[in-house]
Amino acid sequence: MARQTVRFGVIGCGLMGKEFASAAARWCHLTDLSFEPRIVAVCDAIPTATEWFQKNVPSVEYVYSDYKELLANPDVDAIYCAVPHHLHAQLYIDIIQAGKHLLGEKPFGIDLEANRAIMAAIDQNPQVIVRSSSEFPFFPGAQQLVQWVQEEKFGRIIEVEAGFWHSSDLDPTKVINWKRKVASNGEYGCMGDLGLHVLHLPLRFGWKPDTVRALLSKIVPQRPDGKGGMAPCETWDNAILACEVKTDGQQFPMILSTKRIAPGHANTWFIRVTGTDFSAEFTTKNPKRIASLPYTPGGVQAWHVADAPYQSAYGTITGGIFEFGFSDSILQMWAAFCDELANGRDGMRQPFYCATPEEAADSHRLFTAALASGRTGSTITLRWEE
Ligand SMILES: NC(=O)c1ccc[n+]([C@@H]2O[C@H](COP(=O)([O-])OP(=O)(O)OC[C@H]3O[C@@H](n4cnc5c(N)ncnc54)[C@H](O)[C@@H]3O)[C@@H](O)[C@H]2O)c1
Repeated sequence: MARQTVRFGVIGCGLMGKEFASAAARWCHLTDLSFEPRIVAVCDAIPTATEWFQKNVPSVEYVYSDYKELLANPDVDAIYCAVPHHLHAQLYIDIIQAGKHLLGEKPFGIDLEANRAIMAAIDQNPQVIVRSSSEFPFFPGAQQLVQWVQEEKFGRIIEVEAGFWHSSDLDPTKVINWKRKVASNGEYGCMGDLGLHVLHLPLRFGWKPDTVRALLSKIVPQRPDGKGGMAPCETWDNAILACEVKTDGQQFPMILSTKRIAPGHANTWFIRVTGTDFSAEFTTKNPKRIASLPYTPGGVQAWHVADAPYQSAYGTITGGIFEFGFSDSILQMWAAFCDELANGRDGMRQPFYCATPEEAADSHRLFTAALASGRTGSTITLRWEE
């Protein structure tokens, strides 16, 4: 059967742009798919960034330094856009208005105002499919936890904790980059950068916080500027959001944390749900492991720790005993996005879809409330219906 080809343009050929190229090159890893991405065009403001694509991605036919020229190319159906946060609003709106489907990077705008402008462009162009990158829920252990939530195994939920923790910024000699500056990363700091990863599953489960009390920290005040001097670090390093969720007759605390400085953690994404009947935890710190604790009144409280098989949303050539990793989760996310482009939400091979713009917009509402809480030291109420 001939596969449907989705012709992609990549705007922003840095760290994440290359990850997509690597996933597209490894499409043969996935089994029985009727669609595939083909990167035909790339654009970056810095010429050396596109050179890597020209050397390594044979399908690239067009190379640009001005993204508007890429958007005018009728041979491009869809865009992956991975540029710093201050560029999201302008570029995403131009992409959507050009009628190209978009997988954009989080946080989908540098602040609430930028996000609202993106959402307005989406409303005006309903024929365009727009999703946000968020790959961690595609780890097999996370998919297992999703299934348990859908099966309502937890009973009364006691508490939810989710987080995304980094640690390379503990090193004060690390040279400053755009993520430490409000102008390019936004006032949200670590929340904008890491927060949608933490919120994707809670929001998908319908767990929108009613209230938030935020504790925001700046830990390293300045860094080498790479030119022999020092530059101030303006953005929040760490954020702990103590939230209260009320949903479907349940009320429970939810602690969300995004940390750039969590000693010992390199890209640790985790979610733990405890309940009166069942508890479960997955963390990328132990990427094979899924922990669960079934409970019946008076019974033993024992965590069961199992190696999750290599099995995510889409089938692969890899045997179940092997390990799953970051680049596998990126590949699975791309399969979900291309599946939705090729077959529509209802025709997808499996039900887990990429993070939606509405979920990204909800994350902005929470981060904006968290900033207000950080400023005032008070608990902020979110009114989702407004
Ligand atoms: N999903 C994830 O796990 C993940 C991980 C890291 C970063 N990100 C997100 O990806 C986005 C980019 O981050 P990154 O780490 O890849 O950054 P990066 O700095 O490595 O790459 C960004 C690229 O965009 C290019 N660029 C800047 N302005 C441009 C313009 N006007 N036109 C075309 N190209 C332009 C830069 O030259 C650079 O090559 C951010 O939104 C970030 O939050 C996501």
